[in-house]
Amino acid sequence: MTASGERTSASTTESPTAMRRLLPADMVERGKCPFDPPEGLRRRRGQGAVQPLELANGASAWLVTSIEAARAVMADVRFSSDRVRYPDATKLQPHEVEELAAGKAALTPKVDSREDGMFVFMDPPEHTRLRRLLTGQFTVRRMKALESHIRDIAVQHIEAMRAAGTEADLVPAYALPIPSLVICELLGVDYADRDQFQERTAIALNSNTPDDERATAGMELYGFIQDLVSAKRKEPGDDILSGLIHDADPPLTDAQLTDVALVLLGAGHETTANMLGLGTFALLEHPEQLAALRADPALLDGAIEELLRYLSIIQMGVTRVATEDLTVDGVRIAAGSTVIIATPETNRDPEHWDEPDRLDVLRPRASHLAFGHGIHQCLGQQLARVEMKVGLGELVTRLPDLRLAVPADQVPLRNEMLIFGVHSLPVTWA
Ligand code: HEM
Repeated sequence: MTASGERTSASTTESPTAMRRLLPADMVERGKCPFDPPEGLRRRRGQGAVQPLELANGASAWLVTSIEAARAVMADVRFSSDRVRYPDATKLQPHEVEELAAGKAALTPKVDSREDGMFVFMDPPEHTRLRRLLTGQFTVRRMKALESHIRDIAVQHIEAMRAAGTEADLVPAYALPIPSLVICELLGVDYADRDQFQERTAIALNSNTPDDERATAGMELYGFIQDLVSAKRKEPGDDILSGLIHDADPPLTDAQLTDVALVLLGAGHETTANMLGLGTFALLEHPEQLAALRADPALLDGAIEELLRYLSIIQMGVTRVATEDLTVDGVRIAAGSTVIIATPETNRDPEHWDEPDRLDVLRPRASHLAFGHGIHQCLGQQLARVEMKVGLGELVTRLPDLRLAVPADQVPLRNEMLIFGVHSLPVTWA
């Protein structure tokens, strides 16, 4: 999940350059091995669980690199996610950093209540109410029904690739449409409108689209979801938006419902799509692991957890701000300081895993932080697991000769993005 807290269309998408501007390139760009954490992060291994970090905007922050310290931060609500009340240093312009340092700007802007629905960027009690309402919608029944739907989507897309020839770019042909159609189903987007929804989402999420086009597509998406909310009020269906309209007491406003839908889209689309794309790439680059999976599909559940740990696609996107002076792993973190969880490193913590830099689908399972921890832990994690299990499972069994169509070092990587992955993945199965 990206940490951009701006309301409106921008919150559905990620700015390709934001992280680059603020962090040294070697902390964002993956090096020779696209599956390993960036070199700048790896070099910090063993240098402390909580390390000071200077950002390019002049602000100081703390980098958390061990799994225990990361859990401690994420389990403590005094480390805030509220991006309206507590500014996150990774989002500030240099003049804002100066104003804060000089005491010319308030550290905690005065906001009495939040009326939006961006609950991922809220603290209790505002977060609690929306999170509970949403959790009530992610029912076992709904997830079970989605599983067979996801399988249909996966199989249809594999068949379409096969019908079109012997080569494809897996990202637009498979990795992007699966989560996009799942979110359509979740939100109850009419079949007739799905092409339009997918088209807008693809433009808004494509890092190669110029900024103004991305912004326009984002605004159109916002309008599209506003219309969807109105439609669900008039004619409810068996979807999450209708469920929220029915269950919330006091009722949620249209703006809150629109925001909630945008959070689901923003949190559930790009993440899962990149796990499908990068996950396939990683398996193709580890043929012995892929062979083990094909020989015994029962290994798939463990393989998904291992891929989540090993790939850790959320680069440095989970941040918190200390609301008071706090101590983590013996390091004092002053009120107002931003803490960045270095998820790729926390998931390679040598204290926690043997040979952490090795992909091993047979590895005994140990909990990882790919879905976060604490009250904001990923709400869609079971759904994401099903999407990955079905998506990767169907792909590797239905296309037994699947392989890269270009040398591995020519696969374009999403180095500039908060959510890592591949921009495209040319594959062949002939
Ligand atoms: C492999 C795919 C995914 C990954 C790696 C992932 C990762 C994460 C992480 C790390 C967080 C915690 C953010 C924080 O603590 O600040 C999060 C939160 C969240 N995720 Fe996911 N996610 C994935 C898929 C999904 C899906 C499919 C959905 C729903 C359709 C979803 C919905 C959410 C929501 C709503 C939150 C915010 C929860 C809250 O603030 O209470 N995610 N996700």
